[in-house]
Amino acid sequence: MSKPTILDFKRMKMNGEKISMSTVYDYGMMSQVDKTGIELVLVGDSASMVMMGNEGTISITMDEMIVFCKAVTKAAKNTFVLGDMPFMSYEVSGEKAVENAGRLMKEGGVDGVKLEGGERMQETVKRIVNAGIPVLGHIGLTPQTASMLGGFKVQGKDVGIAKQIVKDAKALEQAGAFGILIEAIPAELAKLVTENINIPTIGIGAGLHCNGQVLVLHDMLGLFDKFVPKFAKKYASLGEQVKNSLDDFVQEVKTEKFPTIEHSFLMKEEDLQNVKQALKEEGLVN
Ligand code: KIV
Repeated sequence: MSKPTILDFKRMKMNGEKISMSTVYDYGMMSQVDKTGIELVLVGDSASMVMMGNEGTISITMDEMIVFCKAVTKAAKNTFVLGDMPFMSYEVSGEKAVENAGRLMKEGGVDGVKLEGGERMQETVKRIVNAGIPVLGHIGLTPQTASMLGGFKVQGKDVGIAKQIVKDAKALEQAGAFGILIEAIPAELAKLVTENINIPTIGIGAGLHCNGQVLVLHDMLGLFDKFVPKFAKKYASLGEQVKNSLDDFVQEVKTEKFPTIEHSFLMKEEDLQNVKQALKEEGLVN
């Protein structure tokens, strides 16, 4: 295996080969993900909730995102890694956006960045791409600006917003984004978007017809149960396994079943006698 490139993602779309993507936030998990067939990883600003316990994504900072990106990219040998641009790291000015995208790449070691917004972010995406940084757009439900969208709800069920979503996709394609993440829109609309642009679409809650699918790792593995969206399929119950394993550990510690000889270091009898003798002579033990 080797690290895919943005050209591979375009080729996969052309060949009808689906792209798989997940979020990751730390070195240990990335070491496992890198052994799988997942081509694309996002160090998502969802780290704010699943790693830091915050209520939403708004409060995570550039410096915090860089810490997560650094940890992930050290273990990513076969996977293309994107750093999520946190809220207010790209909206204020084009210069600031390029500077912060550059920080995620230079300091965090990522291969590209993701940012939220379509038409309204077209110029910003252009500038970042012109600086040599691959960009994945993010349209539909955009969590950083969910309050502007009336909350966390499916987008594009009516003509006005559906039209805007198609315009957003086309604007990002024109700006040079290598792909677009589409969140929480009807499957039929995601199909129309996917068929009418030449860059890959990666869906989350956007149905079967996108060119790829992404899920939040903690949702997939059953490691985060504070809020689980309808579209998040659970492939494992690691939270339960962690709890059961730690309950077993506590029980074995209390009942002296752990550690056994196989987990202990022992001395030769002769060495033990010498140590005891020496300690006694110095009055250190009775
Ligand atoms: O940060 C995140 O987890 C995301 C998801 C939509 C994949 O952006």
